[in-house]
Amino acid sequence: MSTVLQLARCLDSRPSIPKAPGVALRNFSHAEPPSDIDRWLELRRQAFARERLGVRHWDRDDFEREMLAKDWWLPDRMWLVETPAQDDTPSRLVGAVTLAMRGKGEKSVPVVHWLIVLPAWRRRGIGRLLMATLEAECWNLGFRQVRLETHLRWQRAVQFYERLGYRPSP
Ligand SMILES: CC(C)(COP(=O)(O)OP(=O)(O)OC[C@H]1O[C@@H](n2cnc3c(N)ncnc32)[C@H](O)[C@@H]1OP(=O)(O)O)[C@@H](O)C(=O)NCCC(=O)NCCS
Repeated sequence: MSTVLQLARCLDSRPSIPKAPGVALRNFSHAEPPSDIDRWLELRRQAFARERLGVRHWDRDDFEREMLAKDWWLPDRMWLVETPAQDDTPSRLVGAVTLAMRGKGEKSVPVVHWLIVLPAWRRRGIGRLLMATLEAECWNLGFRQVRLETHLRWQRAVQFYERLGYRPSP
């Protein structure tokens, strides 16, 4: 039996963006240091470290191949959530999501790619904020359905997506 779960949500209006207290939202930046690539890789590592079904380690080459080299990649389609810098404490990346496209031209479909929230920052509305931001961008681009793939064994993610209105889709 396949453990991959394909989900979709239809958009009937432009999603409003909820607030998540104590954090700020921005797009990926190529400026460095600090490098958003390294910070995102570390976020991904920590987010999946305790999952029973883990993910393969990624380095900068993987990020280049799986993100930067894709024809759908745009820095404006990766959103990062971070804590504000304070005095000597630098900001910390606590969540991220990427909007990918499957298919070409008129047949392209928006797909949620690598939604991740740091374990200590979960259940504070960051996942909801990231998804609403991605969905609003899909709406602005003229799409009325958003798709994603997850794993049956990532129970947190399955319950989260269900709560946001995502349903199984072939
Ligand atoms: C799935 C994930 C992104 C959710 O992020 P989050 O910031 O905790 O989500 P939110 O706080 O916005 O939760 C929104 C709602 O989803 C539901 N939800 C979220 N996590 C849940 C959980 N562990 N169990 C049950 N419901 C959950 C709740 O209804 C929640 O609302 P509430 O807290 O008011 O009850 C996060 O758990 C995560 O990063 N998991 C590991 C990575 C992963 O699996 N990513 C998806 C890959 S496809």
